[in-house]
Amino acid sequence: MKIITVKDQVEGGKKAFDLIKNAMGNHEIKTLGLATGSTPKTLYKEMVTSNLDFRNLQSINLDEYVGLPANNSQSYHFFMEEHLFKAKPFKINYIPNGVAENIEAECIRYNKIIDENPVDIQILGIGENAHIGFNEPGSSFGSETREVALTESTIKANSRNFENISDVPTHAISMGIKSIMHAKKIILLAFGEKKAEAVKQTITGPISEDIPSSVLQLHPDVTLIVDQAAASKIDA
Ligand code: GLP
Repeated sequence: MKIITVKDQVEGGKKAFDLIKNAMGNHEIKTLGLATGSTPKTLYKEMVTSNLDFRNLQSINLDEYVGLPANNSQSYHFFMEEHLFKAKPFKINYIPNGVAENIEAECIRYNKIIDENPVDIQILGIGENAHIGFNEPGSSFGSETREVALTESTIKANSRNFENISDVPTHAISMGIKSIMHAKKIILLAFGEKKAEAVKQTITGPISEDIPSSVLQLHPDVTLIVDQAAASKIDA
């Protein structure tokens, strides 16, 4: 795992952007795996203000809340539209449909999309409990796209974006760990002290399904971009 320590989230966004830009320059990307949450916002800002054209690329997002339609401001569809797609159109954007009538069928449909469109670079954030996508502790390393129940701690952490904690969806559709591991290259971003323990576990923790991000130790091409606060427990 390559670790790049940066001053802050802004610099982290720039570093991640440079990696994407170089890969695009070398024609190494057809499919970009995207994440939501506050972490990738500075990367998306760099992409939006750049002169890069993404219309030849397709994007595949990690996850979506069950029950939130695309026009709900808390949905990941809405987030991606606001932070990236509105300004920078892609050839096609794939995001799970959280309001599909049949969620199980939607998971199968989405999994097929992932299988048919291998991700070249996957952007990842990380939860305080080391979840990636919405793969909570205990998720099988062999998991594919499925409906997952969010843990209390994730609901609490994500409630900062909602008016009331009771508004936070309890379930999501998430790409599985196996699918994330299929990406050719992974860029994991983590900023702030709240992520320090998860970052430490990602790098030096036992490789265990109790620590979803620890699976990344088994991937041949992971770049971890962290600020000093998130890196603060690495050697502790
Ligand atoms: C959510 C998303 C994850 C994200 C995590 C951290 O649970 N499903 O993909 O990494 O939140 O969010 P934040 O970047 O806001 O800390």
